Amino acid sequence: MVSVLSLFLLIIEQSPLVVSSQLIQGHVVGVPRERQHLYDSNEPDLTKWHCLNHEDIVLDLSQINDGVCDCPDGSDEPGTAACEEDIFKSVAERTGKVNKYFYCDNKDFIPRYVRKSEVADGICDCCDCSDELLSEYKLFDVGSNCSQLKNEFDIMASTELLSYREGKKALDALEKKYGIKEDGMAHNSCINEDREKVSNEIKVLSDRLAKDRIKVEQSRGDYFNQLTQDPILYRFEQLNSARLGSDILASFTMVSRVSKGYQDILRILSDLSEAYTPSLNDKVVNDNIKKFRKVRRRAEKAKITADSKIDGDQAENLFSYFTEEVPQIFLKRESEYSLRYVIGKSNFVQALVEGKINYTNDILEYIKEFRSIMDDISQNYNVNFQDAGVKSAADSYNNYLGEYGERIELGPIHPSESLLESLNAVTTFVNENAPKVLPPDASEPEQDTNDYLIGTFEGLRNKLKEILSKLNLFSSRRDLVSLEKRFRSYESQVNLLENELKLKMAYKKILDDTQNEGNGTTAGNLPELLERMGSQSYCLEDILDNYSYAICFEHPMVEGAIYQSEDKVGGKKVLIGHFKTSGFNVDLNMEKYVEHLKAMYDEKSDLISNLAAIQEDDDKTQRYIFGNLNELNSGLVLEYEDGDQCWNGPRRSATVFVRCSDTFKIRSVHEVTKCSYIFDVTGPLGCNKTFEYEPPKFNLVE
Ligand SMILES: *[C@@H]1O[C@H](CO)[C@@H](O)[C@H](O)[C@H]1NC(C)=O
Ligand SMILES: *[C@@H]1O[C@H](CO)[C@@H](O)[C@H](O)[C@H]1NC(C)=O
Ligand SMILES: *[C@@H]1O[C@H](CO)[C@@H](O)[C@H](O)[C@H]1NC(C)=O
Ligand SMILES: *[C@@H]1O[C@H](CO)[C@@H](O)[C@H](O)[C@H]1NC(C)=O
Ligand SMILES: *[C@@H]1O[C@H](CO)[C@@H](O)[C@H](O)[C@H]1NC(C)=O
Repeated sequence: MVSVLSLFLLIIEQSPLVVSSQLIQGHVVGVPRERQHLYDSNEPDLTKWHCLNHEDIVLDLSQINDGVCDCPDGSDEPGTAACEEDIFKSVAERTGKVNKYFYCDNKDFIPRYVRKSEVADGICDCCDCSDELLSEYKLFDVGSNCSQLKNEFDIMASTELLSYREGKKALDALEKKYGIKEDGMAHNSCINEDREKVSNEIKVLSDRLAKDRIKVEQSRGDYFNQLTQDPILYRFEQLNSARLGSDILASFTMVSRVSKGYQDILRILSDLSEAYTPSLNDKVVNDNIKKFRKVRRRAEKAKITADSKIDGDQAENLFSYFTEEVPQIFLKRESEYSLRYVIGKSNFVQALVEGKINYTNDILEYIKEFRSIMDDISQNYNVNFQDAGVKSAADSYNNYLGEYGERIELGPIHPSESLLESLNAVTTFVNENAPKVLPPDASEPEQDTNDYLIGTFEGLRNKLKEILSKLNLFSSRRDLVSLEKRFRSYESQVNLLENELKLKMAYKKILDDTQNEGNGTTAGNLPELLERMGSQSYCLEDILDNYSYAICFEHPMVEGAIYQSEDKVGGKKVLIGHFKTSGFNVDLNMEKYVEHLKAMYDEKSDLISNLAAIQEDDDKTQRYIFGNLNELNSGLVLEYEDGDQCWNGPRRSATVFVRCSDTFKIRSVHEVTKCSYIFDVTGPLGCNKTFEYEPPKFNLVE
């Protein structure tokens, strides 16, 4: 109530209190502002003017709007009833130089056109009474003045907007209750902004990536040139163990996510199984908890454990293993570990990676089972039992879905063929070549091949040669190491950029998809919401004219139906129809909305009739100049067919029109043709979630 009052005060404060004269000097009555210049003198003699479509008929300026039709095209009498209405129509259609209708300037309110036949008939059709300004008749009906209408309009608009906001809030709550995800459409403008931002970032990243790739190629060339002197290292480089490291990191990120998903859903269900109230005997809940305990026992038996933290640490360790530890073995020909350890570790790592991915797919299966249990509970639990434990679990599960959505259930994780191959190649390589580059383990028998040379001159020379060549090798190896370093740092930079780019592109795709979903169904999530309400057998019931009506949503939708029962014990029950389709009907919405406005606001005021306007360009359609207020309703229409046969008539059928409101109610039922009904219903389902008010164009300028 407070907000209504303050809104109201605001409106009053802002409304202009200036009272202006209706006849402005030099203003030709009945002509819109942008056409006033046509009534300036258009003759060499500045007191003269010729008809707009007849240059040969020259009049005094004072003959404009003097109540005598002088021009065959009617152009000298835009503001009186002197010329026939039909003249204007045909001339307007031919030349566009006169207005078909009389233009009310309606200062302080909204300009509009009225029919020429309404001009000068003693009744003010314009709120500024300009249509009667030049009338000979005495005014006998003045109606509301413009500033009065403006006030009434503002009150009407704010009342409507307030009730829309309540309705939308109720719709949001309903969606939340039935676990409908936030729909993308409401954020379309944000999405567009985001999309633009992301597109720009993608462009910047791509440019940088292209430049850095060139650097990588150059430094790789330098490095590989040097490498040719070291065949083992050269072959190792070809295996691209660093790339393998990033691939594994990416796979393990998914693994860790699955683990977290498992931990989270397990926690929700475990909490629920502690907190729910079995004695309420909600069959859905009790049965599912039993099922959950069974599955959990099975998981425990299978020793399923999931720890996303451990997975994360493992991923990092694996990454540094493939990007640092293994390359160092072949580059520096040294390792802080023994050869046996190095080989053992490489085999262990291979088994770990393969095993972990298999294991994760097992976890996914359990997640699926847990989720189907939670799906059933959160959709089908009995709301009336008010079990706090169940309600809280359903809420947590909603958040869970929000966090993981469908993504986690994309099916088993398949490591790419190339990842497994590359993993195998690196492992095999380490097995074969580590013994060639690393010193043998101390415990293994050393082969003393050089001893017998020492002491001989030849031997000394050979030893020297060997040391020299090693020195040489050592210095070139230092070169190699620094070249490698440079190459690696460019490469890892490129990897980072590539990953960042991948993420951005994925994000952009989500934004694109959201938008496409958005405009694909103006419905937002209504169909889904209807489905979910149906799965809890929601019925809307009201009594009208001694009949009780029930509009019931079922799952599947087509089993939903409308029933009419006599409101007395043992009264007859009739099927009005089964649900057929839902859709949006713009025209029906306009008709129903104006009906609603008239019922609500027209009783003591002529506001609504002052909002009806003829369009200059389209006289077939009745328009209303209330901005886009009608769009606060989505125009939702539900069609029902194949009801019980009428006596001596067709099968019953019905159209249900839903107007936006925070409360569900059947307002009225009319039989439009024999046995075909139209139901006026209000409720959150009728609210247009993306509605944004655009007020009409007021004429408030001085
Ligand atoms: C419009 O009508 C109201 C109420 O009848 C009156 O107070 C106000 O002065 C009028 N304004 C003009 C411009 O006539
Ligand atoms: C992983 O699963 C695949 C296919 O099910 C199987 O061939 C492979 O041996 C498994 N690997 C490990 C390490 O368990
Ligand atoms: C949604 O709108 C966008 C932008 O206006 C358009 O490119 C896209 O094709 C539309 N999608 C559908 C499904 O209509
Ligand atoms: C409803 O029933 C009452 C009592 O039977 C009757 O007086 C009344 O006229 C009925 N109203 C309508 C709209 O049929
Ligand atoms: C909802 O409102 C928006 C903006 O006001 C409008 O563009 C759209 O057509 C409306 N949707 C429906 C279904 O009426």
